[in-house]
Amino acid sequence: GSERVRWSPGSLCGRAVVLALFWRLEACPRLCICYPSPMTVSCQSQNFTEVPAQIPHDSKRLFLQNNHIMELRSGEGLLGRETAVLWLYSNNISSIQVGAFSSLLELEELDLGDNKNLKSLAPDTFRGLEKLQSLHMHRCHLNSLPNRLFRRLYSLQYLYLQENNLHYLQDDLFIDLANLTYLYLHGNKIRTLSENAFRGLVNLDRLLLHQNRIHQVHHWAFGDLYRLTMLFLFNNSLTVLSGETMDDLVELQFLRLNGNPWACDCRARSLWGWFQRFRVSSSDLLCVSPEDKRGFDLRFLRESDFMGCPLPNPNRKKDKALANGRSNSLYEFGEGRPNPSSFYKGLQSKDLYSSKNDFSTEEDYWNNYEPEEESSSSSPDWKRGRGKCFGLDCPSEGSSPGLQPSLATWLLTL
Ligand SMILES: *[C@@H]1O[C@H](CO)[C@@H](O)[C@H](O)[C@H]1NC(C)=O
Ligand SMILES: *[C@@H]1O[C@H](CO)[C@@H](O)[C@H](O)[C@H]1NC(C)=O
Ligand SMILES: *[C@@H]1O[C@H](CO)[C@@H](O)[C@H](O)[C@H]1NC(C)=O
Ligand SMILES: *[C@@H]1O[C@H](CO)[C@@H](O)[C@H](O)[C@H]1NC(C)=O
Repeated sequence: GSERVRWSPGSLCGRAVVLALFWRLEACPRLCICYPSPMTVSCQSQNFTEVPAQIPHDSKRLFLQNNHIMELRSGEGLLGRETAVLWLYSNNISSIQVGAFSSLLELEELDLGDNKNLKSLAPDTFRGLEKLQSLHMHRCHLNSLPNRLFRRLYSLQYLYLQENNLHYLQDDLFIDLANLTYLYLHGNKIRTLSENAFRGLVNLDRLLLHQNRIHQVHHWAFGDLYRLTMLFLFNNSLTVLSGETMDDLVELQFLRLNGNPWACDCRARSLWGWFQRFRVSSSDLLCVSPEDKRGFDLRFLRESDFMGCPLPNPNRKKDKALANGRSNSLYEFGEGRPNPSSFYKGLQSKDLYSSKNDFSTEEDYWNNYEPEEESSSSSPDWKRGRGKCFGLDCPSEGSSPGLQPSLATWLLTL
């Protein structure tokens, strides 16, 4: 019985098995382990300094993490046409040639995380990866992202960019990512969120932006994020965030805004108003200024705390064209300081609060104003230009928020 089943090298059947074994052994790169269904090539933690040669062309999963690979060259035999999962995390990749991934038309998951010398990527690095669902590039010391890096990655659902060195997010960077659900950007050095930074992300569910240097969020920055349920902005430099901006997040459930230097003067009214009308699970928002509000939670201020503040304009509409016109007239990203005096040229100060002016309230003005690189040392006389001091940088004016008078003072100095 059992004797007959056991194969011997002499039998025909046995020879076929041995041949098949040899074929497999040959096809599997040295120091790697290969196993079928799905065809998997596992080469992790072997001190490889380059991608091993002769990776089987039918491999579906390729594990190369925890090696010392320094470069990914184009046309490297790497990369079977059928590979769906490619892990390259925790190597020392500093250069990826354009075309390195171009044969991987079935790729669904690419993990390049924790390659601390990567620093930059060519614009076409991921071109053609239209089935890619998950892209990991955390801890790669990336300084910037090319404008077109994510173009046509229509299937992308998870994008991990946390703990890099990113200073900004240019307009329309994510424009093609209509299927993206997670966008992790925490632990970078991002300073502002522009109007179109998140345009196109109509299915985004989680946006993590904590541990950055964000001090300004454009009014319409969240305009496409109507599916967002989780927004983390803790540990940033926000003094102000407009309630109208938050109004776009109609599905929001989890919000963390702690660890920001909230200004609880008139500028806080808009966000406070949003908390009165929208139910969300939120962190605390401790006021840092003015002095008499320090330590209070912005959410629990009272109506009377905003007595004497300019009234929000109830008729104000979200007019994208208007918003564009305004942002162009006030500042352009990357072009430094706005020039408020030219904006206000020919305006009576009473017009500042009229409804035909786009700045219906002072908070609108401040929310759209980006002070670049506050120069605390070079400008001891803060009244020389109100724009040089912002939030925490402004000397306290005693207990009165006194915003309206100070704006008037500032206008007089123009
Ligand atoms: C990789 O290199 C380290 C340090 O040289 C050594 O300790 C380790 O055994 C090597 N690993 C393998 C799998 O060769
Ligand atoms: C990583 O790569 C850099 C060059 O990009 C090299 O100087 C460094 O020695 C490498 N580190 C390791 C641990 O291989
Ligand atoms: C991505 O979204 C588009 C619609 O925007 C849809 O047609 C397509 O099937 C989606 N792709 C995946 C992989 O979910
Ligand atoms: C904010 O960052 C500091 C320093 O990185 C850290 O100690 C602190 O725990 C962070 N706060 C939160 C709320 O995560």
